[in-house]
Amino acid sequence: MSNTIGNDTGIDIEKLVRLSKKVDISDLDLSQAANPLTDEEIHALTYMCDIESHTVVYLKAILNTCAIEDPQTTAFLSCWAYEEFFHGHTIRQFLDAVGAPVSKSRMLEVQKATSTKEWLKEIAASILCRFSPHFHAAYLTYGAISELSTLEGYGVLARRTKNPILAEVVKRLAKDERRHFSFYYNKARLLLKPRGAQRLTSFIIRNFWLPVGGGVKSKGEVEWILSFILGDPEGELIAQRIDTTIAKLPGLEWFERLSASRKEALRATAKRSHAKLVLAPQA
Ligand SMILES: [Fe+2]
Ligand SMILES: [Fe+2]
Repeated sequence: MSNTIGNDTGIDIEKLVRLSKKVDISDLDLSQAANPLTDEEIHALTYMCDIESHTVVYLKAILNTCAIEDPQTTAFLSCWAYEEFFHGHTIRQFLDAVGAPVSKSRMLEVQKATSTKEWLKEIAASILCRFSPHFHAAYLTYGAISELSTLEGYGVLARRTKNPILAEVVKRLAKDERRHFSFYYNKARLLLKPRGAQRLTSFIIRNFWLPVGGGVKSKGEVEWILSFILGDPEGELIAQRIDTTIAKLPGLEWFERLSASRKEALRATAKRSHAKLVLAPQA
């Protein structure tokens, strides 16, 4: 079948559009969803619900950049935003079922808490686009890192939990994240061929990249999720795996930011628990 939305990249966007659908958990018995569930799992799911639900705000920012001029990217983004909306919706359903509901005004609260720096980054991105044709590559690279991190994060939750329903829900979410990652990564690889694109992308990622949720959630919350998901020896290997995959993109050979962020997060959370112990009243 011919690819009608741009056929110069080898990316089968028609297939991606054809396969796009909302995640479906209607076959799962959510009345059993709380068996068993830890407080940390609820905390992590609430974090992910906030980020998944924030996608439409990211979309608004992206559509103000030159990404909107690329038919493949706009086709992808339309499906991506739709699927991500249902990720947030699905996690919300799960949290409702286990008695840890997310408030109706939560999305607005998260938007209000988004840092001014993020807002300035959005404006800078839309202006930068007017001057450099290579901004698109930087955006795609950023997206590839986020999708790969999310995909691995859901994988960790699925393997670690003793809750079979939670495991199934996050496995289904991870399946979509894998398709998202594939688009971002393959398209970034193509657009990163020119040296100018590599230089601009490296500059942006080195100076402005944040782990998933950064700029939207507080620094402490980002450190918490990194420590919770990647804190154990398996997490160290996963962070290295993400770094190695991203470092295969042209010009990104230096990338090891996931491992570095993991280490910083572990240091910060250890410091916080130590301070708590010192400040705790003696019995
Ligand atoms: Fe998602
Ligand atoms: Fe995604």
